[in-house]
Amino acid sequence: MSLEEIGKEYLQKAYPIVYPIVLERARGIEIWDSKGNRYLDFFSGFGVINYGHSHPKIVQAVKDQMEKIAHIGMIYYNVPALQLAKKLAEISPGDLKKVYYANSGTEAVEGSIKLAKKYSVKEQGKTGAYVIAFDYAFHGRGALTLTLTHERKYKRLLGHFANYPGVVHLPSPYCFRFPGDEETCKQYTLEKVDEYIRYHLGPENVAAIIMEPVMGEGGIIVPPDGWLKELEKIARENDVLLIVDEVQSGFGRTGKIFGHEWDNVNADIMTMGKALGAGLPLAGTITTEKIDSAWEPGDHNVTFSGNPVACAAGLAGIEVLLEEKLHENALKVGELIMGKLRDSSLSIIGEVRGRGLFIGVELVKEGKKPNPEATKKVKDLMFKKGYIIGTGGMFGNVVRIEPPLSVSAEQADKMTDDLIESIKEAS
Ligand SMILES: Cc1ncc(COP(=O)(O)O)c(C=O)c1O
Repeated sequence: MSLEEIGKEYLQKAYPIVYPIVLERARGIEIWDSKGNRYLDFFSGFGVINYGHSHPKIVQAVKDQMEKIAHIGMIYYNVPALQLAKKLAEISPGDLKKVYYANSGTEAVEGSIKLAKKYSVKEQGKTGAYVIAFDYAFHGRGALTLTLTHERKYKRLLGHFANYPGVVHLPSPYCFRFPGDEETCKQYTLEKVDEYIRYHLGPENVAAIIMEPVMGEGGIIVPPDGWLKELEKIARENDVLLIVDEVQSGFGRTGKIFGHEWDNVNADIMTMGKALGAGLPLAGTITTEKIDSAWEPGDHNVTFSGNPVACAAGLAGIEVLLEEKLHENALKVGELIMGKLRDSSLSIIGEVRGRGLFIGVELVKEGKKPNPEATKKVKDLMFKKGYIIGTGGMFGNVVRIEPPLSVSAEQADKMTDDLIESIKEAS
């Protein structure tokens, strides 16, 4: 039985396997499959490998920790969990200081809502019945997180399991598809949030607003400058907590350490995942001392919380990020890719948008109609040329470029030329 056949025979059908290749080893942005074919990774395993595949410093940290202690559980402290918590507090914006560890972004988001609800009931004396999320949002695929996620295709046949009461979706600042200019889009979407809290739901019933600084799965939607800061103002005026979901936008991806730094926002809770574990499953939340006071010991925990090996990898990863200034490289190389794509002036490209190396290319037909067929073709053509890229967006018409942040300008330049060629071929 070949490896591919084992995959078909023994893995559940839920996995969206796009190409049945078996990836075996990787280094930097290069990946090799079991047949020796080489690919350049411009997707980083859903935006996880920010620091490059198999970075020697991260590999060493994992080996060293594995020899010391692999797991113990957070009823005791362990060295990497403590060191990483301190490091996260140092690099997080504003008053974010208190860390909780989870395994996945889904769990981190669930934990953030649980904490916000507790805080709003216990410390603010509210009902805390509602949480506001946004159209096009993606926050995971558990029960509550599926509810917070907007896209209906993930919720089919799941009934209440994917539609918890108390989650309200409001229009997101997806200004490319807004019938008006960017300023009107900005004002309209912000006014809706304020209006809903004040007049439809009542501030006393709203525990939190949750927002991705750049909406990844929804199609790399970048809010207008200042939008998130205005959202923070609305949250403050109405005494509602602001949760920033940095699972995908964190750890240098947008050209800053965290995506909400673009707007100098002070969040109440930040969720983290993906790159946090530098390739190992690790996620978490970080909050202020004030909000943390709502927990009682034992209120929240999971078996693998604070796993020493994952935390050691995460700590080494942050050191690599800071030492190699990968966020600065992301900003520079991201501008290069986006600039070149914009200059191509292809009519099929509706919009090129992004921050740092979190880039979306929205492909359209006449009248801005989504073009998912061409998008799929581009992905296939790029694959044939040896590139792994992503696609996404509510309409499946956004090419997603999210390479490791260590990608060189030369590698990015060549990829962009090949991408432009592929888009022309798919048109
Ligand atoms: C912003 C955001 N939040 C949460 C999640 C869920 O993370 P995970 O797949 O690790 O559960 C994702 C995953 O793509 C995400 O992009």
